[in-house]
Formats: sequence, C-alpha cells, structure tokens
Amino acid sequence: MAKSLSTTEKTRLKNHYGPWALVTGASSGIGRELAVQLAAAGLNLVLSARRQDELEHLASDVEKKHGIQTKVVAGDLSVPNTVQRLISETRGLDVGLLVPCAGFGTSGLFEKSNLEAEVNMLRLNCEAVLRLVHHFVPIFQKRKRSGIILMSSIVAFQGVPRSAHYAATKAWVQSLAEGLADELRAHRIDVLSAIPGPVESGFSERANMKMSLSNSPADVGVPILRALGRGSSVVPGGVGKLLVYSLRTVPRWAKVRIMKMVMGGMTAHQRG
Ligand SMILES: NC(=O)c1ccc[n+]([C@@H]2O[C@H](COP(=O)([O-])OP(=O)(O)OC[C@H]3O[C@@H](n4cnc5c(N)ncnc54)[C@H](OP(=O)(O)O)[C@@H]3O)[C@@H](O)[C@H]2O)c1
Repeated sequence: MAKSLSTTEKTRLKNHYGPWALVTGASSGIGRELAVQLAAAGLNLVLSARRQDELEHLASDVEKKHGIQTKVVAGDLSVPNTVQRLISETRGLDVGLLVPCAGFGTSGLFEKSNLEAEVNMLRLNCEAVLRLVHHFVPIFQKRKRSGIILMSSIVAFQGVPRSAHYAATKAWVQSLAEGLADELRAHRIDVLSAIPGPVESGFSERANMKMSLSNSPADVGVPILRALGRGSSVVPGGVGKLLVYSLRTVPRWAKVRIMKMVMGGMTAHQRG
C-alpha cells in the first residue's frame, strides 16, 4: 500500500481541486493524514478542529516542508456559529476541495447513552457537514472542477447494536454522498464517500471501543485521495476491504447480527 502520492497524482489533485482545500478534523487521525497528503500535493490548507495547538504545529510543519499557505480556524464545529465563523474565514480564498472529516463515535447500549453527547455527535457528524456542503456547492458550481470528500464508514450499511446512533450518523453521510455524487456530477463536482473500516486514531478512545484489527491513518489517506474524481466511493485500507468484501453477499438482517458480535467484542471492557 503506497503511503505517498505519485507526482502525477499530486499534479492532478492540485490542478483539479486547488489552490485551497478545507479540512476539518485536521488535528488528528484521518483528517490530519489527508491534510498532510494534500499539502504534499501543493494545495494550500484551511485547517479546522478544536485543538488550536495541534493545528498550529501541523500548519507550521507543512508550510515549511511544502511551501504552501495555511489558515487555522480552531473551534467546536458542533456549534453552528463556529461553522459559520469557519465559512466566513474562507471568504476570499479559492477553495476547490471540501473535506469535512471531523467526527466522533459513541458506543454502548442506547438506553444508557447520554442524550447531550448523542445530540452533540449528530451536530458534528451530520449538521456541520450539511452546513459546509450547503455553503460550498454553489461556490463549486462556478469552478471548472472541485471535490467533496465525505467520511462514511463500514458501519453505514446496516444497523449496529451497541453503536446504533453513531452508525446512523454514518448512514446519513453515506446516503447524502451517494445522492450528491449523482446530482453534482454535471457541475464537475466530484463527491466521494470514503468508507474506512477500523482505523487506529483518536477515534477508538473517544468512542470507548477497543479495536483488535485496524489500519493506520497512513494506510487510508492516499487511497482516499487517489479515488477522488474516479468514482463515488472508496473502501480504503486492507481491513475495511476485507470486512466489506467478506460481508457482500450477506443479507442486511444477518449483517446486523454480525455487527452485534463485532461491537460486542469491541465494547466487552465496558461490561467489566
Ligand atoms: N477511526 C475509525 O475507525 C473510523 C472509521 C470510519 C470512519 N471514521 C470517521 O473518520 C473521521 C475522522 O475520524 P478519525 O478516525 O480520524 O478520529 P480522530 O483521530 O479522533 O479525529 C477526529 C477529528 O475530529 C475533530 N473533532 C472532534 N470533535 C470535534 C468538534 N466538536 N469540533 C471540531 N472538531 C472536532 C478532532 O479534533 P479536536 O479533538 O482537536 O477537536 C480530530 O481532529 C470521523 O468522521 C469518523 O467518524 C473513522
């Protein structure tokens, strides 16, 4: 699995989607990896997440290494006003690629979940994505070419006991991506649904899940960027591919049962 983009790929990404890309969730994990790869391709970056220090470090690293420009906009994107502030900060920049990657998961029995935490997740995983996509679509329609990468998951394709609401947020993202990919094709806006399997990042700790088999962010970043403009979905990384292809002929009700076993294992520590 290549962990860096070829020169041809870098040129393609910069020509189609540059000069600026907006990446949320850029302080960690998959978003950070996508930002690093886009910087290596020569795109200028608007970087967003809550942790300003992490964003500033990344910004200074990629500026020095790749001679690009960056803009850091730190804040909690589950708050609509922060999304609005992020949008305002992009005015005057020719953004051609939107990567709303910020997101988190929850796990455990729904009946024991904290409603405020679930609403917060819905706002970040769905509402912030909706607001950003809705802002950029008319702007992108005026460009020669542009792109949107939406972060789905393999949990998007069936109900997932013990992570029911997180899986539902990803089903929302997957459905939005599929519909938009078709609607926006005529406007030369490439919409890609990225469908990772388990990835070792900050995700599992926040979701209180233990992953036994996973890919690294570096395994999934390059495949996602290579797929942009070449199809409407990608399952990046070997673990995700293995899970998706081994379940492809299984009926949806049976996938729910399999996910129940998988998630039961990933949350066993919660039951002491
Ligand atoms: N890891 C996996 O197994 C996996 C699999 C499939 C899909 N995904 C999806 O991939 C995306 C990235 O996840 P990851 O694995 O890279 O996890 P991660 O390492 O935890 O990164 C999540 C990012 O989102 C940011 N974030 C979290 N809450 C935020 C908030 N309220 N406002 C603004 N930014 C916020 C975090 O930064 P701050 O903490 O600095 O705010 C961080 O940059 C998510 O949408 C996730 O659902 C992950």
